[in-house]
Amino acid sequence: MNFNITTESISNIKSDLEIIIVHDKDLKHTFVQDKKLLKKAGFTGTQDEVCHLIEKNRLYVGTETLKGVGVRSAAASALRSLLGKKAYKTVKIATYLSHPRCSASLRAMVEGLVLGSYTFNNYKSTKVKSPVKNVEISLDGYNTHELSMETAARAVHNGEISANATNFTRDIVNTTPDDCYPEIMANIAQELAENSTLKCKVLKPKALKKEKMETLLAVARASRHKPRVIHLAHKPKNAKAVVTLVGKGLTYDSGGLSLKPADYMVTMKSDKSGGSAVLGIMKAISEMNLPIEVHGFIGAVENMIGGDAYKPDDVLTAKNGKTIEIRNTDAEGRLVLADVLCYAQQEVKADYLFDFATLTGACVVGVGHYTSGVMGNADEPKDLVVKMATQAGELATKLDFNRHLKKTIKSEIADVCNISNTRYGGAITAGQFLSEFIDEEHKEKWAHIDIAGPAFVEHAWAENPHGASGAGVRMMIRLIEKLVRTAQSH
Ligand code: BES
Ligand code: ZN
Ligand code: ZN
Repeated sequence: MNFNITTESISNIKSDLEIIIVHDKDLKHTFVQDKKLLKKAGFTGTQDEVCHLIEKNRLYVGTETLKGVGVRSAAASALRSLLGKKAYKTVKIATYLSHPRCSASLRAMVEGLVLGSYTFNNYKSTKVKSPVKNVEISLDGYNTHELSMETAARAVHNGEISANATNFTRDIVNTTPDDCYPEIMANIAQELAENSTLKCKVLKPKALKKEKMETLLAVARASRHKPRVIHLAHKPKNAKAVVTLVGKGLTYDSGGLSLKPADYMVTMKSDKSGGSAVLGIMKAISEMNLPIEVHGFIGAVENMIGGDAYKPDDVLTAKNGKTIEIRNTDAEGRLVLADVLCYAQQEVKADYLFDFATLTGACVVGVGHYTSGVMGNADEPKDLVVKMATQAGELATKLDFNRHLKKTIKSEIADVCNISNTRYGGAITAGQFLSEFIDEEHKEKWAHIDIAGPAFVEHAWAENPHGASGAGVRMMIRLIEKLVRTAQSH
């Protein structure tokens, strides 16, 4: 999709279609040309409601707010309604500058257009694609605030990068477990490095053994697909801060010997969403060439059953020497992350350490399908994640640790148990388990982001179609961009 920004007024731009995002309250405004027709069609301008006036070559879509969150979702809905309609190659759209943070809403609009044009056709004989190749953006829109060409161009450019990175992550997650297994994830990372400024290192089983990642190796043991730990690095010369990202890359989670019930196993190809998000974030950071050193670590593993599978009753020793009593092999993500977190901290001393994981069903029960749970020992990194997620149009909320729940992962026979002794508070106890593998020096710099709810979408919502959403990608790009601005203002 090509974007062109112009100061030409919207009526003078040639296109196959004009997309008009209308604030429900503005339906009576003079700039809405087709008031009568829209009324006849029953269009009321509610969020994401689409009305295509075919003969006028105008497509109206409603939004409840001109803030990014509404505009992104509306733009995506408009593009989604055009999927497969081949006539609409070039669309035009005006900017919505009535909101004081208008460059943010322009970026959101671009993100919405790119995210809404996403389709995953790899396994379909008939491919349905977005027809839209060119988007003409008029800066002479509904202006009450000024937006310079330079600011607008930056908003469009960064919006394109962050939405394309989200779509890149969606493609990886949507790929089936026998087409995307640990070796393939490592290939994707290596290919990413070959085509960018990123550096990539891949650890295979021999190296993992040497690094004493025994818990990760135990989870991987029953699979015919051997595990990989991937390290991608973005190291600009003028780095203002160092950020480490760690992702859970379970290319399939059958539950292992504590086998998942049939209905719960379906969609577990999405258990690689954290690792896939890290791949997308690294891609975007290198394309934006941000002056922050960013390291991405991914534990790519398949959790299967078999004669040599790890078992409930095993005691495993993690890379940092802590022993773990296994009582459920389906709580495997935390075992993989334990070793990868230890490895990441050994390799890089960071100002911030974030991990992304589809870690617990309990997080989905607790906060719903749309929201990520943000955990950690200190408020600062957690608050930063929640704030930046909100700005990026992702839902995230803090889930605070407490000393009472901490006791529920005690083990009678080892240093810690991989599950809690209570049915309740499972997202937090999983987070507190991970905390056992965070070094003293990173304790206050770490946040764990449980994306189990939003990572995979059963019924489309906002800018997310069925399937992988790319959760975590836009929030973290925003956060890293914010670190650049913070460093500049000091
Ligand atoms: N990958 C799952 C968590 C999950 C569940 C992600 C639903 C997305 C949607 C994880 O490995 C898991 O199975 N967790 C168990 C932990 C339990 C055994 C303590 C769970 O949540 O049931
Ligand atoms: Zn599991
Ligand atoms: Zn899992």
